[in-house]
Amino acid sequence: MTANNAQATRTLLNGAEIPVVGLGVWQVPDGRECERAVSSALESGYRLIDTAQAYRNESSVGRAIRSSGIPREEIFLTTKFYPGSRDPLVEVERSLERLGTGYVDLYLIHWPKGGPTWAWSGMERASEAGLARGIGISNFSAAELQELLKVSQIPPTVNQIQFSPFEYRRSLVEACADAGVVAQAYSPLGTGRHLGDPVVERIASATGRTPAQVLIRWAIQKGLSVIPKSTHSERIVENFDVFDFELDEDSVSALDSLDTTDQTPDALARTQKWWS
Ligand code: A2P
Repeated sequence: MTANNAQATRTLLNGAEIPVVGLGVWQVPDGRECERAVSSALESGYRLIDTAQAYRNESSVGRAIRSSGIPREEIFLTTKFYPGSRDPLVEVERSLERLGTGYVDLYLIHWPKGGPTWAWSGMERASEAGLARGIGISNFSAAELQELLKVSQIPPTVNQIQFSPFEYRRSLVEACADAGVVAQAYSPLGTGRHLGDPVVERIASATGRTPAQVLIRWAIQKGLSVIPKSTHSERIVENFDVFDFELDEDSVSALDSLDTTDQTPDALARTQKWWS
């Protein structure tokens, strides 16, 4: 990856290239707001859009992709299996209908509800049917990833996790790397909470960048793919404008020291996992 390459990618185990920065649409209501955000991202150069069955906005994502005029194969589209449902294959077919496309590039188990392994054979069937080009996981711990690796015929390509300097989770990222799994950061801005942190603000003003850009850049430099969420077009543009600068070592270690997970695999060392 070069620092100024806006189409920088990470290579997945299935040979696909996943863009380093994408738009996440968690908590974006279905309808005009979601369509506008996705359209604005695609116009600004984003080629990775991340949705989920649980977000209930796949139809809007699909409409924005189709109306962009960008060839489908140039866009990396992720959705996630809602693990309250039973069959990942049936559910991906429904997702594809809502998205108005023949395949997703990545299909993730949204969280390991009911254990890390039961849904995987259905995910593999979705892959074998060509409906999901890549399959993966989200919110899996290092131990859950290991359990899955013991039973999988097709390995997971991605583990999408809550990740920011405050939720550094270094040992989980290392466990993913050891398994060849690309870690992807959701909530890289702490859903907005981390933008006002004094250390983040200080580094932003010293580098002539915004706090959001500093947090996104930090995650990129840790080797992750990152999916900041915004519904404001100026912020969507800002969050993608992170390929022409590099945080220096001092800035990276100042950000590293904000960690509240004691570099454990956990998202929030002192609180419950939201998905338990
Ligand atoms: P909004 O959608 O109103 O723009 P995360 O990606 O960590 O989940 O953070 C998303 C939150 O951060 C949203 O509330 C979003 O608000 C806000 N946000 C996203 N990008 C920026 C930005 N560049 N500047 C300020 N706030 C931002």
